[in-house]
Amino acid sequence: MENLISLVNKLQRACTALGDHGEDSALPTLWDSLPAIAVVGGQSSGKSSVLESIVGKDFLPRGSGIVTRRPLVLQLHKIDEGREYAEFLHLPRKRFTNFAAVRQEIADETDRETGRSSRQISTVPIHLSIFSPNVVNLTLIDLPGLTKVAVDGQPDSIVQDIENMVRSYIEKPNCVILAISPANQDLATSDAIKISREVDPQGERTLGVLTKIDLMDKGTDAVEILEGKSYKLQFPWIGVVNRSQADINKSVDMIAARRREREYFATTPEYKHLTHRMGSEHLGKMLSKHLETVIKSRIPGIQSLISKSIVEIEAELSRLGRPIASDAGGKLYMIMEICRGFDQIYKEHLDGVRSGGDK
Ligand code: GDP
Ligand code: NA
Ligand code: MG
Repeated sequence: MENLISLVNKLQRACTALGDHGEDSALPTLWDSLPAIAVVGGQSSGKSSVLESIVGKDFLPRGSGIVTRRPLVLQLHKIDEGREYAEFLHLPRKRFTNFAAVRQEIADETDRETGRSSRQISTVPIHLSIFSPNVVNLTLIDLPGLTKVAVDGQPDSIVQDIENMVRSYIEKPNCVILAISPANQDLATSDAIKISREVDPQGERTLGVLTKIDLMDKGTDAVEILEGKSYKLQFPWIGVVNRSQADINKSVDMIAARRREREYFATTPEYKHLTHRMGSEHLGKMLSKHLETVIKSRIPGIQSLISKSIVEIEAELSRLGRPIASDAGGKLYMIMEICRGFDQIYKEHLDGVRSGGDK
């Protein structure tokens, strides 16, 4: 059976190609129904660092101010062997093997939509796929960092606009919230916790990640939080130690950084007993497993939406007189093919379950 995560990935790409990302769409409910993991947190809480550690590559734009100004839908695809590469949905025929060029393209594509000088944000997502033997199958959505004040010429409304954008993603019941909080600040002031508690008061779909554990004041530690005693979520908290700014300036590579992170937890007396569930590698694996579980539980719902979509698209195509060559017709046709593929695989899955086969 084709991997469920990659099937949902295809549907997500098809929705974006069709201009369907929530608002104003041809298939209003399909995108909303697809399970995803959204990364939320305050500015400089360590969101980009966490994403890069999960991928094991430097590829995200950096800098001060609001760097992430459009949602980035990051789809990780595990390949058996070969050189890692990246592809953007908006540049379908271009393979990136240089990840510095990936970073530049994210920045350029952000500016194309929002305008370089206006410092605006946009809800239109950028889709990036990374194919690598060193990743787990996973889809993550990077969102602009929550902020309290507008800076360098930004309109005051930007604070609220970012919050509204983040909320529009995480309020969907199918969204898993990866809530990033820095350990060197009081958890009570965490933007990530504040907004996730609003939309998920019981903590049923919020995964708490604590960054910057290495930067805590001497004599303090994060054990109470990591053991779930300070702020309880349904899932265990995960602590990480990302690269510091000095490490980044010195170009400490990801492999070395991961090794150091492992050593940090294994050798710090306070955290020794928690080592097995700390760190970026564990976080990536756990997220992949969790996403697959969520997708499985949602399949019947997705399935019925897809059946409905196929009927609607067929009606739309016959209304258009099947102009497959035209842009709209071609895209509709494409999404229908993907829906049919999903349908087919889902049926095979059910047959497998019925005949007692397990896959
Ligand atoms: P974002 O704004 O939430 O995307 O935050 P970044 O990932 O860009 O991190 C902001 C700054 O904090 C950068 O200088 C990182 O190097 C640093 N940083 C992030 N996580 C850690 C951590 O776990 N330990 C240390 N020492 N520095 C970190
Ligand atoms: Na925060
Ligand atoms: Mg960032």
